[in-house]
Amino acid sequence: MFDHDARPSPTRRGVLTGAAAITTGAVLPFPRPALAQSAPLKVGFMLPYSGTYAKLGQFIDSGFRLYVEQQGGKLGGRAITFTQVDDESKPENGTDNMNRLVSREKVDLVVGTVHSGVAMAMVKVARDTNTMLIIPNAGANDATGPLCAKNVFRTSFSNWQPNFPMGKVMFDAGHKNVATLTWRYTAGAEQMAGFKEGFTKAGGKVVEDLTLPFPEVEFQALITRIATLKPDAVHCFFAGGGAVKFVKDYAAAGLMKTIPLYGSGFLTDGTLEAQGAAAEGIKTTLHYADDLDNPQNKAFLAAFKAKVKEDGDIYAVQGFDGAALMDIGLKAVGGDAAARDKMVATMESAKIDSPRGPLSFNKAHNPIQNVYLREVRDGKNAYVSVALKDVDDPARGCKLST
Ligand code: BEZ
Repeated sequence: MFDHDARPSPTRRGVLTGAAAITTGAVLPFPRPALAQSAPLKVGFMLPYSGTYAKLGQFIDSGFRLYVEQQGGKLGGRAITFTQVDDESKPENGTDNMNRLVSREKVDLVVGTVHSGVAMAMVKVARDTNTMLIIPNAGANDATGPLCAKNVFRTSFSNWQPNFPMGKVMFDAGHKNVATLTWRYTAGAEQMAGFKEGFTKAGGKVVEDLTLPFPEVEFQALITRIATLKPDAVHCFFAGGGAVKFVKDYAAAGLMKTIPLYGSGFLTDGTLEAQGAAAEGIKTTLHYADDLDNPQNKAFLAAFKAKVKEDGDIYAVQGFDGAALMDIGLKAVGGDAAARDKMVATMESAKIDSPRGPLSFNKAHNPIQNVYLREVRDGKNAYVSVALKDVDDPARGCKLST
């Protein structure tokens, strides 16, 4: 029996298994393939359910469950059970948490995570144990670069991907000297490097890179430094609770009009209600906009609102698409996840009509997708234009071939 809404709220560092996930019955002496196929598929969510990225993790979880619910509680004809672990966005616990899901909980598929540093630990365990892993957010370039693997797919972005197009956007807007600002960890460094590549290629100059440790939110000294430097504009990466505070602090310092603030779209996605008027007018680039005019987006947002009672965002979309990709793979093998080669080959060639627009995958299993320029208008990340169409991460260092 499966009940996708039997969702206990996770506690710190605990692995949680919904009541519906516990299968009962006599233990059989020998494994029987036919029975194994009809048993529920165990999905392990390894996501942040606490800390600055808590809402991101929760929305990925809800987006994934929404898709499963729309398929009658199944993926590829297999019933699904869920287990959750709160990774707290702590890379130092990443290996242990992943091992618990794989070795103790014996999940068939892991979905995670948000934080690039935690994701790197997960990818290493997934490679060592040949566990199917879907990354529904973390952008660590290496996951679909040198560490790419047959059993690892990403339904989100590489850190390079939403930032590279912003370089030309800002240069064309007349900003020649720009300061960057971010948290000091993999995602921050890689997102700013992606931006810098696009910006210097267009002819711009980065005058200073400002950073603070993740997940600190004492922004005042950095904002003062920006006021002193007087760059033409600022490009930044923050997300979740930290992004809410940063945008409010930047607006309170009175810099929005004199030194315009730009960012990768994580700055204003899933955060606008809390940022309020402070975020109005901020321009960002991302592979999603709230008002993308396609039927999939309209249906997704309506269904998400009905289920979760909140507006969907990019994190929910990435979770939803993660389930859609697994559904495609499992359907091709009649739900038999052990038929790995055929399942993976089908996932590699998947073409999904996502709420974000057309979604396909490169040889490293990273999305090929449009990156949109958006502007915050009336509390929404409103579509402005396609900043770059069909953006494909260079997958530097990936040895997989298609
Ligand atoms: C990351 O760590 O990769 C990340 C976290 C939040 C939003 C985007 C990327």
